[in-house]
Amino acid sequence: MGIGLDRIETASRDELQSLQRDRLRWSVGHAYHGNPRYRAKFDAAGVHPDDLASLDDLARFPFTTKADLRDAYPFGFFAVPEDRLARIHASSGTTGKPTVVGYTRRDIATWSDIVARSIYAAGGRPGMKVHIAYGYGLFTGGLGTHYGAEALGCTVIPMSGGQTERQVQLIHDFRPAIIMVTPSYMLAILDEFRRQGLDPRQSSLQIGILGAEPWTDAMRDELERDLAIDAVDIYGLSEVIGPGVAQECREAKDGATIWEDHFYPEIIDPVTGAVLPDGEQGELVLTSLTKEAMPVIRYRTGDLTRLLPGTARTMRRMARVTGRSDDMMIIRGVNVFPSQIEEQILACPALSPHYQIELTRPGRMDEARILVECRRGATVDEGRRDSRELAGRIKTLIGVSVAVDVRTDGDIARSQGKAKRIVDLRSIA
Ligand code: DLL
Repeated sequence: MGIGLDRIETASRDELQSLQRDRLRWSVGHAYHGNPRYRAKFDAAGVHPDDLASLDDLARFPFTTKADLRDAYPFGFFAVPEDRLARIHASSGTTGKPTVVGYTRRDIATWSDIVARSIYAAGGRPGMKVHIAYGYGLFTGGLGTHYGAEALGCTVIPMSGGQTERQVQLIHDFRPAIIMVTPSYMLAILDEFRRQGLDPRQSSLQIGILGAEPWTDAMRDELERDLAIDAVDIYGLSEVIGPGVAQECREAKDGATIWEDHFYPEIIDPVTGAVLPDGEQGELVLTSLTKEAMPVIRYRTGDLTRLLPGTARTMRRMARVTGRSDDMMIIRGVNVFPSQIEEQILACPALSPHYQIELTRPGRMDEARILVECRRGATVDEGRRDSRELAGRIKTLIGVSVAVDVRTDGDIARSQGKAKRIVDLRSIA
């Protein structure tokens, strides 16, 4: 990519939509002709790529789900011969087989371009040093951001996740301007700065490009204050390509811009599957427009969000993902996401954002206990006061009764990648 914005980022909506229509026809046709599973699914639903006269016609096509991909394990969703694959990644599911995804050389180039575009939108510029603390390997986070940072012309420090002490040492010595990491691991690195007697506000870091898990604006405020950085959201999922499907712009910080020239978004009612108008909350469904090795047509992400009009770019934004439909807890009949609890924890000054939610089912209904650490420096009394405050806030603002268990600093397992927020003990009881 050249330096600066891609022209399409600020093109008119008309121009963008006309490009989307052309690419959508190509992508759906490519899936149909290149992969027998798509062909069978479309035939069974009585639809054909030639039916796509307008973007709205996509709604007639069947969804693709994670279960479809799993059933086709390992390579059954590819639409090119295996010898055209340049790379394979996989995401480990909670159960059973991983979901496998593949890329041609051109797919890797596309991915690098959109990640470069994402880093640019986050405020990154050629020549800046980028410390990558997303895991390298089958996970798309490390290598995906690595190639993008290189494509932008940055200097990459491929640290990967883990070895927290070393992370801080290298940030201190190599002086990167940008860190790419999950927000929960950013917190662990922040704590380690302090443990080593370093002032995190004095570090070289200026920009945090944080994602791969849900996080809140309250967490953003905390990280921006304690690290003196701009913290922006990066969204993506391996099935669709990896990190860089959407990126929040540094100047706006108002939700991630979806790179709509490569991914066509829809929001659906997760129960009926009906397409919802922009602005309404529902499940994000994505269709790849340019991917060769593994096109995804109407892929159900499971992520709950809203589509918002463009601001810093012409392309639409997505509101912060409140959670995945499978992270939703039903506590005494009320639907609750970990991010809602996180917001309330961060409103209590003596509590730290290191937390987990333990679910049990002593009778017929789920019960939740919030395990949360006291902030370093806060007294036991302050911790107790805030645990009552937190339970009160959750009761009043979210509408559920929970128990709060305040732990001492360092007691709750630190994530080195995606945080495990929910500890489900329901099947054990
Ligand atoms: O997490 C890709 C990625 C890597 C994104 C690095 C951003 C940065 P998966 O492991 O396949 O891929 O997990 C995808 O993670 O469906 C969401 O539920 C969640 N997720 C990813 N980014 C965000 C975000 C990578 N910014 C799943 N906010 C997605 C909330 C996110 N959830």
